[in-house]
Amino acid sequence: MAKIVILAGDGIGPEVAREAEACLRLISGARGLGLTFEDHLFGGAAIDASGDPFPEETQRACENSDAILLGAVGGPKWDGGSVRPEAGLLKMRGTLGLFANLRPARTYAGLESFSPLRADIVKGADMLVVRELTGGLYFGDKVEGTEEASDLCTYSRGEVERIARVAFEAARKRRKKVTSVDKANVLATSRLWRRVVTEVATQYPDVELEHALVDSTAMALITHPTRFDVILTENLFGDILSDEMSVIGGSIGLLASASTGTTGTAVFEPIHGSAPDIAGQDFANPAGAIASAAMLLDHLGHSAEARILEAAVEQAIAGGFRTRDLGGGTRCSEFGEQVRLSVDAQLTANQPKLA
Ligand code: NAD
Ligand code: IPM
Ligand code: MN
Repeated sequence: MAKIVILAGDGIGPEVAREAEACLRLISGARGLGLTFEDHLFGGAAIDASGDPFPEETQRACENSDAILLGAVGGPKWDGGSVRPEAGLLKMRGTLGLFANLRPARTYAGLESFSPLRADIVKGADMLVVRELTGGLYFGDKVEGTEEASDLCTYSRGEVERIARVAFEAARKRRKKVTSVDKANVLATSRLWRRVVTEVATQYPDVELEHALVDSTAMALITHPTRFDVILTENLFGDILSDEMSVIGGSIGLLASASTGTTGTAVFEPIHGSAPDIAGQDFANPAGAIASAAMLLDHLGHSAEARILEAAVEQAIAGGFRTRDLGGGTRCSEFGEQVRLSVDAQLTANQPKLA
């Protein structure tokens, strides 16, 4: 039994979250996983209802859940208001202590030619961004005047140590290479980051560590994406580099993420936003949200089911089902349905034969 809180949010958030939830319901029912689902208001939708993007009631539900599946928040409707939907997301990350944000990216078989980058450049790319999620500029003291404003960037040794360990542990299960990305030629926080990551690395002699500056990494990421395995970086750099990384696979709509931290509760969400330009038209690519649901299954210990769901996404893509972001005509809901057909087929094939 595990309690899943669904925070659909705004824009395409509800469209992609709906498809991911339907996949989880199907798998949970067929395999007797006993997952339960509960919808709660979050982001702009919650501001409209209560004035608060992360209302008390949603907060309690999140704290009492085993995992949270999130769509996306934000949109022009709330820009310029006194409280932003994004503030709810940040508050959730802070209160649930979600310091580790894992964002995997790779090329899908059959999609190499859909990246704006040349197929020979992206072929075989497979990387994981480990983004620190509760420190840096996002969470430092802010001064917001009409003539002057500032955002304080701070990192403590402990904050760097714990995220570095996440990256090295992840690298051990992959190709055993960590690229730690900073701006140590300019920033004091980056120099602390580099020192602490180097110290943590001594506990992982089997993992290769390289340090790189964020500006040249932004270039190398798309000129030589196959050079990277685990990319370890701070909050803002991780935000920017992971969106850049999405062009390797062909669309930001494909990318999933998991955020874990100091409490047992974890959040699973596609890395994209609410995409106001395509919201409400059934055009969104739900693959990233569905792949996030697969990460959620992994987190709950249902790894066989996670692999089934991942394989179903791959099969749908390989079968030519492509949403508009990938130049195809498949609707968001049709893609979700196709994934569920593939899940069904795998579950039937895996059923033990009657004697
Ligand atoms: P965005 O990721 O929403 O959209 C960027 C571009 O990618 C748009 O052209 C959009 O149509 C496209 N896109 C994104 N997801 C897609 C999908 N699943 N399928 C097909 N195309 C997709 O970024 P933005 O436009 O800069 O931000 C819009 C709003 O979303 C802002 O309010 C921002 O703060 C918010 N945002 C929220 C989250 C989150 O909830 N985690 C993440 C990023 C941005
Ligand atoms: C993301 C988003 C958020 C971030 C925003 C919406 C606060 O861009 O999840 O990548 O900057 O972390
Ligand atoms: Mn982002």
